[in-house]
Amino acid sequence: MGCAIIGCGKALPALEVANDDLTALVDTSDEWITTRTGIKTRRICVDETNVDLAEAAARRALGWESGDYNERRVEPEEIDLIVYSTATPDVMVPTCAALLRRRLGLVNAAAFDMNAACTGFIYGLTVAESMMAASAAGASGAPGRNPVRRALVVGAERLTRITNWLDRNTCVLFGDGAGAAVVEWDPARAGILSTYIRNDDDDTNALTCPTAFDAPQPFDTQGVKVDAMKKADPGLARIDEEVGVTEAVQEGRPRQTLYMHGQKVFKFAVEALNHAVEEVLDRAGLTIDDVSFIVPHQANERIIKYAAKKMKLPLDRFQVSIAHRGNSSSACIPMTLSDAYDEGRIKPGDKVILVGFGGGFTSGAVLFEA
Ligand code: UT7
Repeated sequence: MGCAIIGCGKALPALEVANDDLTALVDTSDEWITTRTGIKTRRICVDETNVDLAEAAARRALGWESGDYNERRVEPEEIDLIVYSTATPDVMVPTCAALLRRRLGLVNAAAFDMNAACTGFIYGLTVAESMMAASAAGASGAPGRNPVRRALVVGAERLTRITNWLDRNTCVLFGDGAGAAVVEWDPARAGILSTYIRNDDDDTNALTCPTAFDAPQPFDTQGVKVDAMKKADPGLARIDEEVGVTEAVQEGRPRQTLYMHGQKVFKFAVEALNHAVEEVLDRAGLTIDDVSFIVPHQANERIIKYAAKKMKLPLDRFQVSIAHRGNSSSACIPMTLSDAYDEGRIKPGDKVILVGFGGGFTSGAVLFEA
């Protein structure tokens, strides 16, 4: 209670690629992609970076440019924290959050990146809310933490940079984008009523993307060995084995791309989505009838339809924004929330659920009062 969303914005790269365009790359069709996923087009970064998209989304969320939702303009020095969710950072060091802080001049903000795959924005919002609640509790009794009154929570991805464009099972699904929200601690408001984050083991490696750090290492198990620099990293082979990509890599498939067993992820997604919604409702002491609107992760329109059916809700109680964006991992939920505000579908006092699922297997939800 007390952590209110006061601004929300999104940004997309310029290039739009239609289903038919992808037939130049893989054996697919507009009909297959549309009926199996609901996707018609997706946006793809060519010269935009992850942080470019995040910056544009954040400027809108802060009310510096006309946004999808703004209660007021937030000044740079008012932001105490940046939580930046991404599985596709432009760089490892500095963090994307640090680059964003510098670009926006958020001089008082502590800033860090985090990765919880497609559920990243839910995790990020949960962390921000928890830090704000702890900070507010400290203010009235036991100080000793960073004071966090306002936070910028970002979900930004260049997912198409880890997409294998020769794999029709995955390449038709993904797109790039960024969404951002500004949250403010205001004890007079209800704001976030409950949060829930969860992990299940992805036992069959249904969704993976191994990284490929490739600086040569002058060591073997005995110590410094210059010759070892010419050899492949033995640890990498063990990681490949652990996440189940050894065979594919040996066959020449790039390591740093998404590997997915669609049906397994689909099954997990439907169950996780429903479970997370039930949990946040329970934790807030509410029922689904109290909730006006659900903003789910946008992986496949059919996943949302299944979830709606299981919850016995009409599809129009869900924001579905997948048709012209595809799945952009942790950027989906904040962008879809922005759409809902932009389309006037969220009114003050409405109770709204954000819900996500993804690699890991992560899942989670946030229930808030607008
Ligand atoms: O962000 C979180 C992570 N992602 C997800 O949540 C995604 C979850 N999974 C899904 O959305 C769906 O499983 C997919 C959209 C990925 C796939 O749909 P599906 O209905 O589960 O299809 P499938 O994998 O069972 O494949 C059915 C057929 C196969 O052919 P055969 O073996 O039946 O002859 C595939 O080879 O469709 C074929 N296929 C395609 N055909 C044309 C797979 N991809 C394509 C394609 N175009 N792009």
